[in-house]
Amino acid sequence: MENPPAMRSGWASRLGFILAAAGSAIGLGNIWKFPYIAGKNGGGAFVLVYLVCIVLLGLPIMVAELLVGRSGQRDAVGSFVALEGRRSPWRMVGWGSVVAAFLLLAFYSVVAGWSFDYVVKAASGALHRGSPEHVSQLFRQLTASPGRVLWWQGVFILATVGIVLGGIRGGIERWSKILMPGLFALLMALFLHAMFSAGGPQALRFMFEPDFSQLTSRSLLEALGHAFFTLSLGAGVMITYGSYLDPEADLFGLSMRIALLDTLVALLASLTIFSVVFSAGMPIGGGPGLVFETLPILFMQLPFGQLLAVVFFLLLAFAALTSGISMLEVVVAYVIDECRWPRLRATAFVGAASFVLGIPCALSFNLWSDRQLLPGRTVFQTFDLFVSSYMLPLGGLLVALYVGWVWSRDQEREALAHLRHNAAMFKVWHVLVRYLAPAAVILVLLNEAGLFA
Ligand code: PHE
Ligand code: NA
Repeated sequence: MENPPAMRSGWASRLGFILAAAGSAIGLGNIWKFPYIAGKNGGGAFVLVYLVCIVLLGLPIMVAELLVGRSGQRDAVGSFVALEGRRSPWRMVGWGSVVAAFLLLAFYSVVAGWSFDYVVKAASGALHRGSPEHVSQLFRQLTASPGRVLWWQGVFILATVGIVLGGIRGGIERWSKILMPGLFALLMALFLHAMFSAGGPQALRFMFEPDFSQLTSRSLLEALGHAFFTLSLGAGVMITYGSYLDPEADLFGLSMRIALLDTLVALLASLTIFSVVFSAGMPIGGGPGLVFETLPILFMQLPFGQLLAVVFFLLLAFAALTSGISMLEVVVAYVIDECRWPRLRATAFVGAASFVLGIPCALSFNLWSDRQLLPGRTVFQTFDLFVSSYMLPLGGLLVALYVGWVWSRDQEREALAHLRHNAAMFKVWHVLVRYLAPAAVILVLLNEAGLFA
């Protein structure tokens, strides 16, 4: 028997786990997506709603997911089976999250690939020549080229495969320990520079002065959906990563550190990007091209700008990489634990399959840009909507219901006993995970389904 659960190796250290889990959380969602959806939804009020969602919904559900994995000691499906038995319907929750992680990798790798391309662009000096319009044009040229997009997407998936092949300690943990501190240092440097630029104060006001007139029910859904996305919830990541934790781990403390790092990076990245936007007098809410079109302009104004641009896009690529490996690991852990495949075969197979599924996502920006999977949405946009707005919140909701309600029937649950060491925290968490988080997610999903229209 290959890889029986008892022989799974875990994280080498708590710090290693925090960096790997924060590596999963911190990704394109923080640096690419959050700034542009915050811009689109009017800034401050949206940021406030988002922060509330992180603390009241995201954090409790992260604890719940880690708990399921740590108690089950297996992949996202296997953990439910280990806890509830082969026939339990709860294993479907695990199934849903493995599927979500797989779909996610298919379209995430497209944008991750763009960041790889930008490393080369920055290194060649291409971003340093010409006007802001020229920089925008470079972005459109890239996305319009199916060959270039697919090539970089393939390189990205290959890199994630290379790391996941190394396993938890030798692959994921080792690389997270190199990539995450680097990302943080560079972002901090860019942020400090941006705050002293002309647009700095305006960016601060935009991000932190709430104007509730801008808030729609649509933005509430977007804030909630993004809270799940940014914390890597609902896709089995925290279940899988939690399964490599030892039973003594303090899940409250670990979750808070992960969420704090994630939030900090999202805020610093947004402030940095908006101060460039305001300094350059560009339109706000620039959409998905924000990082690729506006950020290069900041670098043009800096001493050593070209070097910084190279390092920034490299680290953006690395942030995407540490998230990509977590998506891959969810599916790979499932194949290893449930199908008993060796890691090498599981990783190669899942990597290849996700590349194939990623092709229509890559073509959504060029050859297939007018093909629609759902009315008015390309394949890429459909995947994104389906996974980010429905599957992740639904997956998180079900884990919350499971831990909050099913486990409470059985007061002797050992895992809960451990959490009870922190009595005050436990009480708050339990209320949130039983009532508030499920109620909020259900309301928003019903709203999205048009029930309150
Ligand atoms: N949290 C990642 C980001 O912000 C995305 C992600 C979602 C990764 C779900 C894994 C699982 O970019
Ligand atoms: Na994130």
